[in-house]
Amino acid sequence: MPNNETHFGAPRSRVDGRLKVTGAAKYAGEFIAPDLAHGYVVSGAIAKGRIAAIDTAEAEKVPGVLRIFTHRNRPTTAWLNRSYRDAVAPPGAPFRPLYDENIVYSGQPVALVVAESFEAARDAAALVRVTYESAPHETNLRNRLAEAYVPPKERAGIDPPPNPRGDAGAAYAAAPAKVESGYHVAPEHHNPMEPHASTVVWEGDGKLIIHDKIQGAQNTHDYVTSVFSLPQKDVRVLSPFVGGAFGSGLRPQYQLFLAVMASLELKRSVRVVLTRDQMFTFGYRPDTIQTLALGANPDGRLQAIRHEAIAGTSPFEDYQEVVVNWSGLAYHCDNVDLKYRLAKIDTYTPLDMRAPGAPLGMFALESGMDELAHALKLDPLELRLRNYAEMDQNTGKQFSSKELRAAYQLGAERFGWARRNPAPRSMREGHELIGWGMATGVWEAGMQQASARATLTADGRLEVATATADIGTGTYTILTQIGADAFGLRMEDVTARIGDSSLPASPIEGGSWTAASAGSAVQAACYAVRETLFRYARRMENSPLANADSDHVLFAEGRIALLNDPSRFVTIADAMRAGGVDRIEQEETTAPDKGALSRFSPYTHAAVFVEVRVDEELGAVRVTRVVDAIAAGRIINPKTARSQIIGGVVFGLGMALTEESMLDHRLGRFMNHNLAEYHVPANADIREIDVLFVEEDENRTNPLGVKGLGEIGIVGTAAAVANAVFHATGKRIRELPITIDKLLD
Ligand code: MOS
Repeated sequence: MPNNETHFGAPRSRVDGRLKVTGAAKYAGEFIAPDLAHGYVVSGAIAKGRIAAIDTAEAEKVPGVLRIFTHRNRPTTAWLNRSYRDAVAPPGAPFRPLYDENIVYSGQPVALVVAESFEAARDAAALVRVTYESAPHETNLRNRLAEAYVPPKERAGIDPPPNPRGDAGAAYAAAPAKVESGYHVAPEHHNPMEPHASTVVWEGDGKLIIHDKIQGAQNTHDYVTSVFSLPQKDVRVLSPFVGGAFGSGLRPQYQLFLAVMASLELKRSVRVVLTRDQMFTFGYRPDTIQTLALGANPDGRLQAIRHEAIAGTSPFEDYQEVVVNWSGLAYHCDNVDLKYRLAKIDTYTPLDMRAPGAPLGMFALESGMDELAHALKLDPLELRLRNYAEMDQNTGKQFSSKELRAAYQLGAERFGWARRNPAPRSMREGHELIGWGMATGVWEAGMQQASARATLTADGRLEVATATADIGTGTYTILTQIGADAFGLRMEDVTARIGDSSLPASPIEGGSWTAASAGSAVQAACYAVRETLFRYARRMENSPLANADSDHVLFAEGRIALLNDPSRFVTIADAMRAGGVDRIEQEETTAPDKGALSRFSPYTHAAVFVEVRVDEELGAVRVTRVVDAIAAGRIINPKTARSQIIGGVVFGLGMALTEESMLDHRLGRFMNHNLAEYHVPANADIREIDVLFVEEDENRTNPLGVKGLGEIGIVGTAAAVANAVFHATGKRIRELPITIDKLLD
């Protein structure tokens, strides 16, 4: 049946926008319940050792305190017998809150105070006295490099580096031009506006409704039912709104465990909200140390790439992400050697953070390419074009689509790249040096299996439902668009329901795969309903569609009409009547096309151009202009898509200039655990960000032809800033963030 593309491709405003700006959208820590008790977490003070004594006597005297849970008195749960690994857990044994007296990282929860009010719980928490026996810890990755190891078990969904191809060592030695350097990006925390929170509503009889901050309600559902051995049907998880996550909500966090434990034990509703500083006591973008070597001919063609990364992980899990593989597919090169290893430090396990791995690896690669261009006196963009990868050499597959060339061209034109004077320090205005830099971005265009339900009622209203989340990305809106187009409805006739574990199965919202995954499932469910309705319409007495086949009718304005004669139609209501129903509800499951994926590599690409102005005396860097040209298949909603890219770019500017989680290695603790000292870019830091989408025909890897946009905006952005800083100042900074001290000698 031909599709009515009224909304697909149109800049629609967020359907949940009004709820959000009026405060009607509720977040996990805002739900209430009769008899709600409040939990406050006591965070551990040392990085390694054991709790020798824990004294709760004073705390228990605080009026309103109901119970103080510690490892000594915590209830016995399934947790003790088995270590449940959630849907996105890396290999290893997940951290178990209040499991025993051992301390394995600084900030580890050591007690939960539950009281009638939040204030009472917080006051009492301050009176819990913990005596520790410290053991030597090591949080400095540089001191653990000698013990780096290849992960013994691969993390599901994370490709290890491809086998070496050609002879990178010999080719590098023989290359007439070469650059080799070390690169480092500071660890970062996600810092969503909404802190992690769980409100567990005790429904009686062991039944729970859980409002959790999570990027996938079903991940929380499976975790809770498994860890606490609860019947599947006794737990329902809701997370209709998520106030930013960026990956921090992929895995259930410890506040969830503590709130559920307390609720089951006290048989009443319990809420636990983490404080801003406690947001620094779980996953983060891992400390990663890289070396990169590029060898090239005088014409710039790459002869050798060697890229190695060592990333920190926790003592208990082998967190992995893709850092170096990008160097094997971003450019054409026949001699490539990529290595990725881990080293254990005494922190919590790192956690996926927006485009996990890619902005790190691409910072090194794209800085190296800029150095090479400078050494060869080639324009940085020209160097990239000369090394354009026509296929994915890591796998030997063709790209499913790749309009990066068009992105380079469009981005360069919009930016005015052709006017760039190649010499560093060649542009200035007053006391400011001006620099122009660029970089390539690349990210996976994934799709996961997902199910969705579509329900059409005789009044011409449609509901589409799947358990995915909207972490601020626009999921509600694009699912509404897809549903509306299937039936030719208005946006306001369609309701998207998500963020509920009881809805049809959907993967966590992550990996930029939600549009392709949940979107395809919603469309398939709508199409199934459409076919049913069309069958009814044809059956109708004297049906004008009696002899029509489904390729020659169109759904529009609440009717099914003949494509070549729209005056002949059946209304949705009449068709339903003919079928003897007042609603049609169907569920469908869509999955990636394995055949296509065995032949094609799906990736999203970006060409990012940046202008910086650097105060020559103060070393302060301002990013005054960014153009990000994106090739990401078809764009469902240019408005929310643009916002996604802007958000990603802002993340990249933070990585480039301000964001840094600082470990005090003497204490083994992140010490700037607040938004005053951990600097995310603020409004005043962000100037013009111009987002362009190039035409890209993606028809191989998912029915919608979309590639996902949540992450590509950050990839390459930090490198483009560093390259612009080099162009402005002549200083090559290989350690992010580029703070003032690095620019002042
Ligand atoms: Mo993303 S780091 O998969 O939320």
